[in-house]
Amino acid sequence: VAQPVNPTFVGAIDQGTTSTRFIIFNNRGEVVAVHQIEFEQIYPNPGWHEHNPEELVSSVEQCIDGAVEAFEKQGHSRDQIKAVGITNQRETTVVWDKTTGKALHNAIVWTDTRSQDLVRKLKHRLGAKELTERCGLPLSTYPSASKLLWLLENVPEVKAAYDSGVLAFGTVDTWLAYKLNGATAREIYVSDPSNASRTMFMNLQTLDYDDELVDWFRLDREKIKLPKIVRSSDPEAYGSLASTSLKGIKITGCLGDQSAALVGQKGFTPGQAKNTYGTGCFLLYNVGDKPVISTHGLLSTVAFDFGPGKRMYALEGSIAVAGSSVKFLVDNLGFIESSSKLSTLAETVEDNGGVTFVTAFSGLFAPYWIDDARGTLFGITAYTQRGHIARATLEATCFQTKAILDSMAKDSGKSLAELAVDGGMCNSDLIMQTQSDLIGIPVNRPAMRETTALGAAIAAGLAVGVWSDFKELDDVNIDGRTLFKPQIDAAVADKRFERWEKAVEMSKGWAS
Ligand code: G3P
Repeated sequence: VAQPVNPTFVGAIDQGTTSTRFIIFNNRGEVVAVHQIEFEQIYPNPGWHEHNPEELVSSVEQCIDGAVEAFEKQGHSRDQIKAVGITNQRETTVVWDKTTGKALHNAIVWTDTRSQDLVRKLKHRLGAKELTERCGLPLSTYPSASKLLWLLENVPEVKAAYDSGVLAFGTVDTWLAYKLNGATAREIYVSDPSNASRTMFMNLQTLDYDDELVDWFRLDREKIKLPKIVRSSDPEAYGSLASTSLKGIKITGCLGDQSAALVGQKGFTPGQAKNTYGTGCFLLYNVGDKPVISTHGLLSTVAFDFGPGKRMYALEGSIAVAGSSVKFLVDNLGFIESSSKLSTLAETVEDNGGVTFVTAFSGLFAPYWIDDARGTLFGITAYTQRGHIARATLEATCFQTKAILDSMAKDSGKSLAELAVDGGMCNSDLIMQTQSDLIGIPVNRPAMRETTALGAAIAAGLAVGVWSDFKELDDVNIDGRTLFKPQIDAAVADKRFERWEKAVEMSKGWAS
């Protein structure tokens, strides 16, 4: 394809749970330059998981500089980058002092279960059951609300800042936009609906904070001003970069990472779905311009808000542990030297040898929502090899995805015809084939798998006219897709799934 005379580019900050990336895309949605950094995972106690908020920001800045350098080496110039989008790990909670801009505690990561007791108590409070209808999320350790309450109850500096009215609270999008704008632009205190809908404070219908929700958590809005909720694609609201090699470039898009992946897969119309196998694994199903409240253990969330007629909701199946279980076998148990080798180890055996691994490191999320489950291995005998455990680890995400799809069919009354996939674990053919076998429908994998970053780039590019509408994205990322079709009988798949469900039952209650 001939290069346009003056090609335009869009940058995407992808601040995930285990790594940060900056990717520069051209206006055909192709990756031109990328820089990635892993940062520290802090586990102070069992079930606790933190990030250093300053390190998140510096990792973003380094990634921008690294990618811009690679970009310029190819002969491009930085002023061809028209805008930058942010996509981020969701729910992770940052608190800081508005007057100094300094974080008051490490970020509490979405996987963290320290608020388990607090949540247990909250579940007895009058009105607990009605929260989901308003905000789309069940009361659990997962959303930001219980993490913020824990910080207020347990960290005196946070409580003092709250009492004196200087406490700022944000998910990672808010924190990054605030910090990347630099010290002179402290008024950039914003979040988009796909992120704000993960706090439990936002009303799904109005896309604004709901006083009744905030009151229910006994938070005083005079003492804590929440970030302003603005559209996911906006030419002004997110400000601009202050201190990197892209100084002055506007931030014009913002999406939680799972929403961004849906956008990157171009899941713009109702009925489309994607499953992203990242640190966790998240299936989002576009349900249209009105939220659908699940009665089968799924979350209701904002998919994206690109303005009137372009605002969509999703049903979501969230799996807390996917790639992190592979990392666990590598880092904690020394099974293999790198995550990319796990699939090869799993292929050394024919099957799981009777082993089932319920990887409930953070309790079990959708569709089960068992806060007190913990990781449990079943079926070990003297016959068990490392390969069997590797296989059982990979299968866990596939089984949970099957449970989520079953719930989704019940909630929506429709069965999915095909599942679009992305994320690190989908590089494994074995996992994708297993997935297709278990759910009985084809799994469709793109060649370009940076769909999360692409989604953020699309959000940013739409705001500044790099693309003027969804139609212009029709040709983006369609080449070289791989289709995995089911290869086993449905009856065999059902038998395997029954064993998984039995194992889930037995993993309950360990942490209570
Ligand atoms: O809700 C948590 C999610 O946003 C984290 O995504 O890609 O880091 O697994 P990921």
